[in-house]
This record gives sequence, C-alpha cells and structure tokens, in this order.
Amino acid sequence: MQFKDFAIAEETGWSEDSRADAYIDLFAPVSDQLIPHLTSAVKVAPGKVVLDLCCGHGNAAAALSDAGATVIGLDFSAAMLARARQRVPSASFVEGDASHLPFEDDHFDAVVCNVGFGHLPDPDAVLSEIARVLRRGGMAAMTSWREPEVSPTFQIVFSAVKAHGDPSLAPPAPDFHLFSRRSLAKEALKAAGFSSPEFTDIDAEFHFADPGDFVDVFEHATVRAAMLIGAQTPAARAAIRDAMMAKVASDYNAGNGQWRVPFPATMATAVI
Ligand SMILES: C[S@@+](CC[C@H](N)C(=O)[O-])C[C@H]1O[C@@H](n2cnc3c(N)ncnc32)[C@H](O)[C@@H]1O
Repeated sequence: MQFKDFAIAEETGWSEDSRADAYIDLFAPVSDQLIPHLTSAVKVAPGKVVLDLCCGHGNAAAALSDAGATVIGLDFSAAMLARARQRVPSASFVEGDASHLPFEDDHFDAVVCNVGFGHLPDPDAVLSEIARVLRRGGMAAMTSWREPEVSPTFQIVFSAVKAHGDPSLAPPAPDFHLFSRRSLAKEALKAAGFSSPEFTDIDAEFHFADPGDFVDVFEHATVRAAMLIGAQTPAARAAIRDAMMAKVASDYNAGNGQWRVPFPATMATAVI
C-alpha cells in the first residue's frame, strides 16, 4: 500500500483515548465552525439519510441529527466512536475504514466529511466509495483546511519547523489540502464520477486564553502535525514550541486576555 507508514501512524494516533479527549477540548471548537456550512450545503431535512464520514466524536452527526436527518457516522477510531455514541444517541455509529465503506450502493441522500480527507492515505478510493454509496443526485460535502500559503495557523507551525527542525521528517502522505486546491479537487471529483463541483471558502479561527494552548493543539490534539513535531529531536521540539508560542503571543493578541489565530478552510460540494 502507498503511504503505509502514514496510514499506520494515523490509525494509531486516532485510536488513543488521550488524543480523542485532547481533540475534543482543543481542536473541535474550530472544526465545529465549519459544520453549519456542511449541513446547509446538503440541505439536511427530516427523512434524509446522511453519512458523516470520519465522524470523530459526532459533532457533525449531532447537527445533522438535530436537523431531523437519519444519521450514520463512520470512523475507524473506537475511542472517537465511544464519545460519539454518548454524545449523539439519536445517530448510529459504525467502526470502519473510509476506503471500504460497509454500506450498500445508493444508500445515502448525502455524505459529509468534515476535515477528514487530510488523514486518508488514498483519498481517490474514498471519493469512489462516497460516489458508490450515494443515491443518484445525492450530494457530497467535504471540508479541508486551507494551504499554508494563506493559512496563518499553518504558517506559524511550518515556519517554526523550518526554522528549528527538519520538515522532511514526517512520513510521505497525500496532499493535506485537497479541497482547497481547486484544480486538484475538481480532477479528483471528476475521476470519481462527480459533477457540478462548487467551492466555498470559510473563515474559522482558534480562540485561546493562553498562547501556549496553540502549541498544545498541535502537539496533543492532532495526528498529522503531531507526527511532524514528534519526529524532531528534543532540542528542536523545544525550539519549535517556543517559536510557535512567541509568534501567537506577539501577532495574534486580540485583547481581553484572548488570542485569536485564523484557520481558514474550504468546503467542496459535488453531485453524483
Ligand atoms: C480531524 S478528525 C475530524 C473529526 C470530525 N469530523 C470533526 O469535524 O471534528 C479526523 C477523524 O477521521 C478519522 N479517520 C482518519 N482516517 C480514517 C479512515 N481511514 N477511516 C475512517 N476514519 C478515519 C479519525 O479517527 C478522526 O476521528
């Protein structure tokens, strides 16, 4: 399998209870900000059957279910699913891999995937699976964080790693920003059989009470960025941490004891 080391590290990382809890506390407040865009794009309504792919702790599933949809969430992390089942008893949750969906053809009216694709070793296979399980005319809506060129959050992380460590130490992996690179996304969606691709840029941001919380997000509540930071030497890690904290402290002070760091995203939608 291509990107095997990446795939193993992703599965191991997301299976940790401590990572699931850190994700919910530190990262989900920003991924939550994208969910209203997904629910409105798929025109969620009572009676619709919707798949929340890479559902994590069920934040999108909760919104879809509150809007009356029949929701199934799928994730490969038992740790995440335990939290999702507790949070959204009205939805069903299935443990499985996004590239081999355990559902019949033409089963769902819509599929959403909130910031899940950056974690997949074979995004093309997953797009084909989404196309297979959607009913004809069904819509897929997926988000990706925007690329470092326009994302203050990723600029802080990657500049610190470049300045103090070795950016090449993370295992090779597919592009993290698939849906924000529109020409790539259009090609991938077309190859999977989708039509009418549309893109919406979304402003989201982290809010912190302490600049050090930014560092905690990337060390403890992510998998892919944590792999890159964790692969550095202890001295490099300490310097990266200090550089990220200093940048947030100096450039993103919003006053009133708050730091706000923009974390823009893009939503892609397409129809099968
Ligand atoms: C960044 S979290 C997103 C969680 C949630 N959708 C949200 O909006 O916050 C990525 C999720 O994708 C799941 N995941 C990653 N690779 C997967 C795969 N191959 N199959 C199923 N789930 C996967 C992880 O377990 C994790 O819960």
